[in-house]
Amino acid sequence: MNNFYWLIIVFCLFVSYGCESSSTDLAQPTPSLKTAYEPSFFIGAAAGTSHILGEDSAALQLLQQEFNALTAENDMKWMHIHPQPDSFHFDIADRFIQLCLDNDMYAVGHTLVWHSQLADWVQEVEDSAAMAKVLQHHIATIVGRYKGRIKAWDVVNEALNEDGTLRSSIFYDLMGEAYIEEAFKQAAIADPEAELIYNDYNMWKPEKRAGAIRLVKNLQEKGIKIDGVGMQGHWSLVGPDLVDIENSIREYAALGVKVHITELDITVLPNPWDLEGAAVEQNFDAYIGDERMDAYRQGLPDSVQQQLAERYTGAFKIFLKYREDIKRVSFWGIHDGHSWLNGWPIQGRTNHPLLFDRTYQPKLAYQQLLDLP
Ligand code: XIL
Repeated sequence: MNNFYWLIIVFCLFVSYGCESSSTDLAQPTPSLKTAYEPSFFIGAAAGTSHILGEDSAALQLLQQEFNALTAENDMKWMHIHPQPDSFHFDIADRFIQLCLDNDMYAVGHTLVWHSQLADWVQEVEDSAAMAKVLQHHIATIVGRYKGRIKAWDVVNEALNEDGTLRSSIFYDLMGEAYIEEAFKQAAIADPEAELIYNDYNMWKPEKRAGAIRLVKNLQEKGIKIDGVGMQGHWSLVGPDLVDIENSIREYAALGVKVHITELDITVLPNPWDLEGAAVEQNFDAYIGDERMDAYRQGLPDSVQQQLAERYTGAFKIFLKYREDIKRVSFWGIHDGHSWLNGWPIQGRTNHPLLFDRTYQPKLAYQQLLDLP
């Protein structure tokens, strides 16, 4: 072969290598949480009404880019979706489902039975039989409507006291523990494929954990379907201890159910009950405007940004260790500007609990979680 042909071959190889490398560069997807954790579990968020209605385009972009599971923050709660005995408001919930379908997201229904954000009329129900009918109608109607589209339901939310006993509520007071059994039974009838979850906060606490385990076992012994335990994950920079979180994940998984981290956020501000002598029943309005309780109005200092990142990575190392048992890790919000922790437990604070800041920019914690798996 003469030099001319060699030259042509070398040129072709050069061009094809160049094209290939530039085409793979182009094909590289932008790194995102959902792709980084796809082999392990879903990465979810809670969407507020404005997000569901598409009124916050920057938040919507983050949702689409970073998350593959979604929970409606408020719009499927009883007071909103079933405000009167015979009237259901499905408009926003329908938009929520559409958002999940359009973006191929694992849709979570939150929540069917909860003492809070309940419609007033339910408080007037007078006896056990009437309450069983109310539960049947509520659950069959809502779960039935979204059959096959909502993939997981928080069937019962926050039924436990801190000591692991069952909380008094209109449901418990009328029906005893049977209300929990009835709720799971009805949900399984309405959509046999949906994953059915018991969800609560402080699920890391040994006493509460024991109560949750008893609740799950009671359902299992009665042959009632339960597929998951939801650990809400409203945590802080200083607690809970990661060992307690890990022990809970392991013990729930040992029941043969999946663990869902359902409402993860890490407050960087003190809570009133962290202060000596501040009882939980106290009215926290006294703290409104108190600068000691709201130290980062101008932004989060680097040192705290670092602590937040460490806390998140500590938790995610455990989640990855138990990836076989964990179905989903959902954040309770998308960005700091729209976190419920700006208004609770003290109104009007500037909290920084999530992975994206008020300008929708990723924080150090985001970068570290992205690099972790
Ligand atoms: C919160 C919402 O984020 C707020 O917007 C609303 O005002 C109150 O409820 N546990 C739950 C969630 O199960 O539904 C709560 O969501 C937070 C605590």
